[in-house]
Amino acid sequence: MRTASVVWAGMVLCSGCVLASLAASESRRAGHSNVGTSVSQLENGYQDRWWKDAVVYQVYPRSFKDSNGDGIGDLKGITSELDYIQKLGVSVVWLSPHYDSPNADNGYDIRDYRKVMAEFGSMDDFDALLKGIKQRHMRLILDLVVNHTSDENYWFVESRKSKDNPYRNYYIWRAGQDGGPPNNWTSFFSGSAWKFDPATNEYYLHYFADKQPDLNWDNPKVRQEVYGIMKFWLDKGVDGFRMDVIPFVSKVPGLPNYPSSYEGRVQYFYTTGPHLHEYLQEMNKEVLAKYDVMTVGEAFGVTLEQTPMFVDERRHELNMIFNFDAVRLDQDNGRWLGWKLPDLKAIYARQDRELDKHSWNTIFLSNHDNPRLVSAFGDDSATNRVASAKLLATMILSLKGTAFIYQGDELGMTNYPFRDINEFDDIQAKNGWTADVLTGKYTAGQYLANLRKTSRDNARTPMQWDDTASAGFTSAPKAWLAVNPNFPAINAKQEMNDPASVYNYYRQMIELRKKTPALVYGDYQDLDPANANIFAYTRSISKTAYLVVLNFSGQAATYVLPSSLKAGKLELGNLGLAEEETDRLHLKPWEARVYQVAHQPSGASRY
Ligand code: NOJ
Repeated sequence: MRTASVVWAGMVLCSGCVLASLAASESRRAGHSNVGTSVSQLENGYQDRWWKDAVVYQVYPRSFKDSNGDGIGDLKGITSELDYIQKLGVSVVWLSPHYDSPNADNGYDIRDYRKVMAEFGSMDDFDALLKGIKQRHMRLILDLVVNHTSDENYWFVESRKSKDNPYRNYYIWRAGQDGGPPNNWTSFFSGSAWKFDPATNEYYLHYFADKQPDLNWDNPKVRQEVYGIMKFWLDKGVDGFRMDVIPFVSKVPGLPNYPSSYEGRVQYFYTTGPHLHEYLQEMNKEVLAKYDVMTVGEAFGVTLEQTPMFVDERRHELNMIFNFDAVRLDQDNGRWLGWKLPDLKAIYARQDRELDKHSWNTIFLSNHDNPRLVSAFGDDSATNRVASAKLLATMILSLKGTAFIYQGDELGMTNYPFRDINEFDDIQAKNGWTADVLTGKYTAGQYLANLRKTSRDNARTPMQWDDTASAGFTSAPKAWLAVNPNFPAINAKQEMNDPASVYNYYRQMIELRKKTPALVYGDYQDLDPANANIFAYTRSISKTAYLVVLNFSGQAATYVLPSSLKAGKLELGNLGLAEEETDRLHLKPWEARVYQVAHQPSGASRY
């Protein structure tokens, strides 16, 4: 029998089985607080927590659903589609920023942290959304954007007024050097990270747009403001936060020039501030520890080796972080390179090695900052789009870590066929045009070809709900960003009615993950790391083992399993029924299968 210890306030009290632990998760899903309640320990040492077996669905509100016909998605629109989200089977919704913002960076520039963006609705609309999510036994996490604010935030409006303003020290102000900015730091949105402000003849720091001044976390008042904001939303009942570029909050003392070795990769420099972990522990103590919440840090610039510093549960900082190794495998500093399967496998193998049972991982290959999943990691051609989108779902939902799905990927939505810089909304794309094309560094053709592969706007085109005008996203004559012209074929209405759709496959795969602890917590073994086309691995816990076989190619392939292993019952396949009880698999292009392992050598712990 599978055993699991139940830990209560740090003490082992009794043992149970995996099912007991699932029952505990279920009761927590039903809305019971986890503070001071039981946490089960699985046989392989992992603690079972609701945020570990969660499947998270990211909503980018601007592009999800417009309820009032202004061409912009809004909170009422999201509430109207909660049944759609719930039917997928996901347990957590992550809402990209919904706060009052002038939208220099689509809400990642916050003017008022306690107010809802007018275009998205009102606080009543937010409360109704939260209620609707809870009624459906799901949870809501918010985007916490506190490395920087908008320059229209009251604190900054005050801060820039004079050198002795009480808010001056909320931001990072410095005198220029030799007629230029204080140092060589660069912005992720092109150019210097410093902007001169004539009112006080000093520069302020902005790692992103000049309308996104960085907060000074070394000022304890700033940290208390942040904790107040967090409590405001947690007290409303939200279930945690995705924390925007959180490892950047502690700045390198003295603000020295970064060494030339960081050229083009400044994120690795910006994460080296000495007080980062002290601040995260303080935040945990003052806020997070008091609630049953989930936290995930966006950790651009954090290496895998540094990851346990953030997520090892004994350190009391964050639950998990987004590591960028996989999602950016196909890019180098914004230039698209392409990618190879063994390199992706090597990343997952390394993650599995480096993160022990105390450190939890995230699995994601798309979000609002990256191109569409099927276009980047699958094959979005008419022939292979559906199968490859399902294959990617199989992988994301069968690897170890909390799984994140970005809106529209469950439909197999694709990159947009951009032709002209004027079709883009993203500040990063536009600033890059000025910096890279108008200076002659790249031709317009080169720049646009790269953006077609890498642009964030690929993921931000409106959700495709049906085949009516604007894909049913809005009743306005024009949506804020163009709808992908493939909406008559790729849309939610059609897919919900088609049992063989990408959407319905996601449902099945999420369902399988939910009832299969091995797919969440199980030990991972890559069976064939060097294979250029086939990704085959096992997930096992106690004596239950599952085999996942993915053909990442447009060619049929025969895959022979290692001698000790046999595929047993097929749990799910993206191309329908498939052979069982065999060690020789005949895979079609982009075929994905999840099997129970039929048998294993006695005493073997490999699987
Ligand atoms: C990361 C966010 O995901 C991205 O959309 C934003 O532009 C930057 N952080 C700045 O907030």
